[in-house]
Amino acid sequence: MISAEILICPKCHQELKKTGKSLFCENAHCFDIARNNYINLLLCNKKKSKFPGDDKTMISARNNFLEKGYFEKLRKAIEQIVDDEKPTYILDAGCGTGYYSHNLEQKYNVVAIDISKEAIHFTAKNNKNSLSIVSSIYELPLKDCCIDLILNIFAPKPKEEFKRILKNNGVIVEVVPGKEHLKELKEIMFSDDAVSNKEKFAFSDFKIKSSNKLKYSVKIIENDDVINLIKMTPYYYTGGRKNEGMFNQIKSLDVTFDFIINVLEKL
Ligand SMILES: C[S@@+](CC[C@H](N)C(=O)[O-])C[C@H]1O[C@@H](n2cnc3c(N)ncnc32)[C@H](O)[C@@H]1O
Ligand SMILES: [Zn+2]
Repeated sequence: MISAEILICPKCHQELKKTGKSLFCENAHCFDIARNNYINLLLCNKKKSKFPGDDKTMISARNNFLEKGYFEKLRKAIEQIVDDEKPTYILDAGCGTGYYSHNLEQKYNVVAIDISKEAIHFTAKNNKNSLSIVSSIYELPLKDCCIDLILNIFAPKPKEEFKRILKNNGVIVEVVPGKEHLKELKEIMFSDDAVSNKEKFAFSDFKIKSSNKLKYSVKIIENDDVINLIKMTPYYYTGGRKNEGMFNQIKSLDVTFDFIINVLEKL
């Protein structure tokens, strides 16, 4: 695990220092490193619900689906971009199960943050060299200007907070769904007008270094994988649950993956 030198206390924003199995700030606020090597820096009074972020169903479905390699092409594309940027410190912001930083943590210092404790359990297990932290990315427990590269993959976009923690000329590698992402799934679940995604830049005041599309189709031939794909998306909650019986019948599904990968530079 990388050192805690870039962390600040979520209560008073002073530097955190590691002593034994705990982190302390100068005001004696203390945060324990959990047995499976993650740190919970999410204060109870900052939680909007008892279990914020993606729940156990979504996280295990995501983990099972990603482990099958369906998004391996996207992971490889991201790794290539990161290698070209040669960062020292990477933040995986809204890391989920840590899939996209899994190989990167062998070469770079990775901090992986998610508000879901369930997600961080998976990340800490999957990525033993990362600093895995439960926190909101809207109030990052990180020093100003300490990160070279932020991975922001299908996750919320706290623009001001990202600006604060990025070094000058640091970059955000953002992945958002393209217009046709999962279109076949959405055609089954919703009416036509709900089908297309909006392709837009959330980080409009960053400089666009590059913007590339990665699009491919696969035939999913196992019903478990179809179910996991549905459960890892918000569609499960917006319409999928009531159709669960129908989804259990799907033996195979041709599906389009359409990703937009933007590299955005802090000016
Ligand atoms: C669609 S998932 C993507 C996860 C991962 N980046 C991936 O692509 O596999 C979005 C993630 O953002 C997390 N999330 C939502 N709101 C958050 C917040 N305010 N702070 C940190 N993480 C958050 C969720 O818990 C979830 O794990
Ligand atoms: Zn403190």
